[in-house]
Amino acid sequence: MKVAIYSLGCKVNIYESEYVEELLKNHGYKIVPFDELADIYIINTCSVTNESDRKSRKIINQAKRKNQNAIIVVMGCYSQVKPNDIDADIILGNKDKSKILEYLDECISKNNKIKKIYNLRENNEFETMFITKFDNHTRAFVKIEDGCNAFCSYCIIPYTRGIIRSKKPDDVIKEVTSLVNHGYHEIVLTGIHTGKYGIDLENTNLEKLLDKLIKIPNIYRIRLSSIEINEITDGILKLMKNTNIIANHLHIPLQSGSNKILKLMNRKYNKEEFIKRIEEIRKIRKNISITTDLIVGFPGETEEDFNETIDTINKIKFTKIHTFPYSKRDGTVASTMKEQVDSEIKKKRVKKILELSNKLELEYYKKNIGETLEGVCEEKKDGTTLIHTSNFIPIIINEKVSNNEIVKVTLNEVTKERLGIGTLVKTSNKK
Ligand code: F3S
Repeated sequence: MKVAIYSLGCKVNIYESEYVEELLKNHGYKIVPFDELADIYIINTCSVTNESDRKSRKIINQAKRKNQNAIIVVMGCYSQVKPNDIDADIILGNKDKSKILEYLDECISKNNKIKKIYNLRENNEFETMFITKFDNHTRAFVKIEDGCNAFCSYCIIPYTRGIIRSKKPDDVIKEVTSLVNHGYHEIVLTGIHTGKYGIDLENTNLEKLLDKLIKIPNIYRIRLSSIEINEITDGILKLMKNTNIIANHLHIPLQSGSNKILKLMNRKYNKEEFIKRIEEIRKIRKNISITTDLIVGFPGETEEDFNETIDTINKIKFTKIHTFPYSKRDGTVASTMKEQVDSEIKKKRVKKILELSNKLELEYYKKNIGETLEGVCEEKKDGTTLIHTSNFIPIIINEKVSNNEIVKVTLNEVTKERLGIGTLVKTSNKK
């Protein structure tokens, strides 16, 4: 049978969709692109904003229109929180995705509709999944944790994903080892609240896990998909000092550079603490690339608060800022706050941050001109090769190097579109 899978939302969803795809493929299903005619459509939904709900509904409807006789499977965050809004053959939330084969069998053989939604804020164990490959990627994601206990005032994720639960260290090591043995040089550790890895398990945490992962034979690089500033422990910094296996790049969400807004957001740090920790990180890794997420136009954000954010960003000098206009999410504290910011003002603020981000990114890349950097190759159709370095600079070289090879390149120039141009120095013997 032909199956088409669509994944909305974050890297955790991408990982889970990849897992479902591999599971189905290994059991004889044929995976086809989502716009093709399929017998089964699986939509792994997102619900982070009201807009994400709308998009999830749109994709579900698209699948139904494509083939009225198809089996429609809806899973993920939207179905977790709004299962009654969905009409599908199989409805799963954020648990039991690994039982998809069983549910498909039941649905096909007995013509049963299936709906499995659990309360994820109660005792729940990590649902163990393993992948051995990541189609069309030189990097592989590994989900090490699920759930969030932080309850930022704008965020629905603690409700969609439930309480924190972590993958057992031995299982993470097994999965990463297998991916390394399958030729993946770069492993991206993902989760909903990755920095809290292990709080539900005995005698482990992110630092201890990283310490084990860097010792896996032939492992080349580990990247953390995102980590909160107050979860970068001294122990993690010590590891970063002692090994370059941990990428020279951290993604640390700031969300706002104004203490007043950070408090309203229920974030657990202030701007002074954030800035101080960044300085400490840079003492260990002078040339590290630090990227961030930012929400602008949060309820109550005045022009003065926004300017405070700009000032904080200029002090930190992120390499790149992923900016989102604040978007109301029903069911969160922030959605009920008065002083919602006008959408035109939000648009202007997003534009300003985008311009600042582009400027900072260009500055950071230019600072690296003349440096010889190492990275993993992605072959391009036009005969060139794209390399993403440890500090995540995209560098094009005018030479064909095989996909996934590790090379050293010198960065010669940077285009105004923020793309590095380099020359090949040598291919590495680490493969
Ligand atoms: Fe969306 Fe769920 Fe990820 S809400 S961002 S898919 S955790």
